[in-house]
Amino acid sequence: MIHPDIEQVLYTEEQLRSRVREVGAQITADYAGRAPMLISVLRGSYIFMADLTRAIDLDVTVDFMAVSSYGAGTTSSGQVEIKKDLSDSIEGKDLIIVEDILDSGNTLYYLMDVLRARKPASIRICALMDKPERRTKPITADYVGFTIPDAFIVGYGLDYAEKYRNLPYVGVLKPGVYGE
Ligand code: IMP
Ligand code: MG
Repeated sequence: MIHPDIEQVLYTEEQLRSRVREVGAQITADYAGRAPMLISVLRGSYIFMADLTRAIDLDVTVDFMAVSSYGAGTTSSGQVEIKKDLSDSIEGKDLIIVEDILDSGNTLYYLMDVLRARKPASIRICALMDKPERRTKPITADYVGFTIPDAFIVGYGLDYAEKYRNLPYVGVLKPGVYGE
């Protein structure tokens, strides 16, 4: 049963599962012999993070961070605030930042700065979804699940006003739902 607020399913549960496995296999190959630390950017990436870590056959560690971004229209655009910081030191570690969506790039642009200052050995970005058309900051992901056009999507961890994170698929919201 598709949720009544969803206009179109973009990626089914099966498509997500198979793509996440491919990305996990790629990371496993690229980091052979190493033990990367995966950093999940909460909250949108939590389901992707759970599936991705299980698709990586290495001695990974995990940590979590929460940030909020205030885009154009609310306060000064590009302002990002750390709501929850990492629990462990990242010095000398090979980091993989796990994000739900790379959109304007503001969040990751800021986060990369903060994390680089803590002297990790390396940092790469893994984003489930990439909306390159929307980019305003010079940020690219090293691993991308799916490149998508500029539409507002929900499900598989992604929300609109904190709803729809629990949908097992990724879908496009009906325009009426967010009043446009
Ligand atoms: P950026 O700083 O503009 O790259 O913002 C990225 C963040 O905005 C993502 O991590 C999401 O939390 C949120 N976001 C961007 N596009 C969407 C979308 O289509 N659906 C749900 N959240 C989105
Ligand atoms: Mg996010």
